[in-house]
Amino acid sequence: PASAVRDRHGLLEVGGVPVTELRERFGTPLYVLDEDEVRAHARRALDAFRAAAGLHGVQARVYYAGKAFLSTEVVRWVAEEGLAIDVCTGGELAVALAAGADPARLGFHGNNKSVPELERAVSAGVGSIVIDSWIELERLAAIVERLDATQAVLVRVNSGVHAETHDFLATAHEDQKFGFTLEDAPAAVERIRELDGLVFVGLHCHIGSQIFGSAGFRESAARVVELHAALLEGGDIPVLNLGGGFGIAYTSADDPTPIEVLAQGIADAVAQECAVRGIPIPNLAFEPGRAIVGQAGVTLYEVGTTKPVHLDDGLTRLYVSVDGGMSDNPRPALYGAQYSARIASRESDAEPALARVVGKHCESGDIVVDAEYLPGDIAPGDLLAVPATGAYCFALSSNYNYVPRPPVVAVRGGTARVIVRGETIHDLLARDAGVETSEEGNA
Ligand code: LLP
Repeated sequence: PASAVRDRHGLLEVGGVPVTELRERFGTPLYVLDEDEVRAHARRALDAFRAAAGLHGVQARVYYAGKAFLSTEVVRWVAEEGLAIDVCTGGELAVALAAGADPARLGFHGNNKSVPELERAVSAGVGSIVIDSWIELERLAAIVERLDATQAVLVRVNSGVHAETHDFLATAHEDQKFGFTLEDAPAAVERIRELDGLVFVGLHCHIGSQIFGSAGFRESAARVVELHAALLEGGDIPVLNLGGGFGIAYTSADDPTPIEVLAQGIADAVAQECAVRGIPIPNLAFEPGRAIVGQAGVTLYEVGTTKPVHLDDGLTRLYVSVDGGMSDNPRPALYGAQYSARIASRESDAEPALARVVGKHCESGDIVVDAEYLPGDIAPGDLLAVPATGAYCFALSSNYNYVPRPPVVAVRGGTARVIVRGETIHDLLARDAGVETSEEGNA
């Protein structure tokens, strides 16, 4: 995080709290989230999209995509900064509601929402539900009729734009599971408009995640505006939701376009296409997730072992094993994601060594940082900080190899507090139907 600085002795502080204090109080591995930084990114995104839309005389609503990192505390922070919240399962919905979020400011996504999930959302009064398929359309229609409710809905479309990102993170090329094709969407909208209980409020599209340039966003926006224009014949359409996906820097090699520039590029593309078609510009909505929390998180690990491995080409790679790994951050294994690492508990003048930071799991792909120069004297007990782990790390964490999930600690102004408690081995054993007493769980 921007607030991570070293004191005179080389000790790293996050949010004004020395990492050694964090280790003492909370142990390692530890997810640390800088509250001020989350809030600052939320404000920055809101300002960027509002300013971009405002230049064209329309409004922008910004939803925080909770899938990136969700806890009641984070919901409160971003809501206080003026963001709405996007959830995509009943579980995420439950967290947002438990946080006291205004249901009217929730959006509900997902390609396979169940009947109970939809019922819960409608009964809670969520602001909008994004319909992803024909089956869901009829499912939701039946639910609102049964509950005698009225529900605002958007229709997710697949704009056919292939975002330049990892294949697993691209969501708008033809051969994938999300949304209606541009060809099928008009019939879905027509069907919604026939139904009393559903109110069509706009189209939705999302082309992928961790996208650096604006070309894909602009192209997609233009295509969706074309459809939006055609649908105006059937009635007013107040909003156009263009999703999230705004990339962040994980290492110094990454150079994402600033969110202000992306926001303006997208709003300009929408306005331009609306001008061509002679239609009013709709209000815009966006759903950044990673851009809000990604850089506000840092994971602290303790080094357990180091091992030089001599490579064929004469090089030596220093394997540095830490006390977590793919269970707290599967992104390198899943997407080939790159991170950086540094010793956080001291400064060192030792000659840098080519290192690979690996976890404690039984897989050779259990890599935290693939290649990094670390001081050659790195040793057991050193604290290692891996920055930019605020998004999709805790969210994607698992209990692989029965490793309990680390706690999440929020830091701000020199104080630290747990916002999600860590799991214990007892928590894990308690789910095993063959474990009889709670004593055994504490072994
Ligand atoms: N809106 C929709 C409909 C989405 O599907 C997503 C992300 C977002 C917004 C937020 O995207 P963001 O602004 O955070 O890029 N696990 C992957 C990322 C999966 C993204 C899924 N959908 C990763 O670790 O990179």
